[in-house]
Amino acid sequence: MKSSQADAATVNVAELVYGDQVELDDPAETYHEASKLHPGILGEGAAGRTLLETSAQLQRSTARSTKRYVLGEAIRLPGPALPDVGLTALLRERRSIRQFSGARIDAQALSSLVYAGYGITHTVPASPMTMRTVPSGGALYPLDLYCAVLEVDGVASGVYHYDPFQHALEQVRAGDCREEIGGSMVAPGIVMGACVVLLIAAMFRRNRFKYGLRGYRFALIEAGHLAQNVLLASQSLQLGGVPLGGYYDRGIDDLLGMDGVNESVVYTLAIGVPA
Ligand SMILES: Cc1cc2nc3c(=O)[nH]c(=O)nc-3n(C[C@H](O)[C@H](O)[C@H](O)COP(=O)(O)O)c2cc1C
Repeated sequence: MKSSQADAATVNVAELVYGDQVELDDPAETYHEASKLHPGILGEGAAGRTLLETSAQLQRSTARSTKRYVLGEAIRLPGPALPDVGLTALLRERRSIRQFSGARIDAQALSSLVYAGYGITHTVPASPMTMRTVPSGGALYPLDLYCAVLEVDGVASGVYHYDPFQHALEQVRAGDCREEIGGSMVAPGIVMGACVVLLIAAMFRRNRFKYGLRGYRFALIEAGHLAQNVLLASQSLQLGGVPLGGYYDRGIDDLLGMDGVNESVVYTLAIGVPA
C-alpha cells in the first residue's frame, strides 16, 4: 500500500474501547439503551408527567427552577451588556484559550457571561413560567450556574451561585479558592490566571421526575448549550475561555457542598483575559 493510501485508511478503534470481546454490562451502553424512547413506550416518568399536567403547585415550583442560598449575602449584578457582534465572526473566531494574562474583568462582564449562560429572557404571559437563554427539555431548567470569582472588580473573591430570577450572585463561600479549584483540575495551570471559573451543576431530579433516565441525557445536553453561550459571549467581550471536562468530580462537588449523586457539577469553564 502506498503511504498516501495508508494515511487515508480508517483506523478501527473499537478494540481499544471494548477489548477483544464486548462486555455485556458496559455502563455507557447499558445507560444509553435504558434511556432510549420507543414508539408507545415513553419509559419511566409517566407519573411525573401526569402530575405536572394536573398539579398547579408542581407547575409553580418548576417555573421557579433554581437553587436558593437565602442565608448568604446576595450581590445584585449590573445589567448585562453584550457587544453587538456578528454571529459569523464569533463562530469563526472562537478558540479555546488556556493562557490568561491575569488581568481583571469588571462586574458587568461577569454579569454578561452568566446572563448569556443561564439568564432569563422572557416571562410567559398568563403563566408563572419564564424562559432563558438556553433551550431546556420541558423548560424544566435542571442546572445551576456557579462562579468561582478570582479576579473581578467589584465582586469579592469567593464562590457564588447565580440566581437568574434576581440576576444576582448568592455567596456560597467567601475567599480566594484558586488553589482549591486548581487542585481539583487535571491541568491546574489553566485556572491560575483565569478571572472566573464557571461551574455548571445539575440537580438531576428537576427533570428526571418527568423524563426518567433520559433526563440525565437532557441535563448534559443543556450544560453544553449553556457552555457554548458563555464561550460565545466571552468571545464577544474579547475574553478567552476554555471548557474543562478534566476535573476531579469529588473535589469540585465538595467545594459546592454537593453529594455528587442527586446533584453534581457536570461541566466547568475557565474564562479570563487572553495572555
Ligand atoms: C466536553 C469538553 C471537554 C473539554 N475538556 C478540556 C479539558 O479538560 N482541558 C482542555 O485543555 N481542554 C478541554 N476541552 C477543549 C478542547 O480541547 C477544545 O475544544 C478542542 O481542542 C477544539 O479546539 P477549539 O475549542 O479551539 O475549537 C474540552 C472540550 C469539550 C467540548
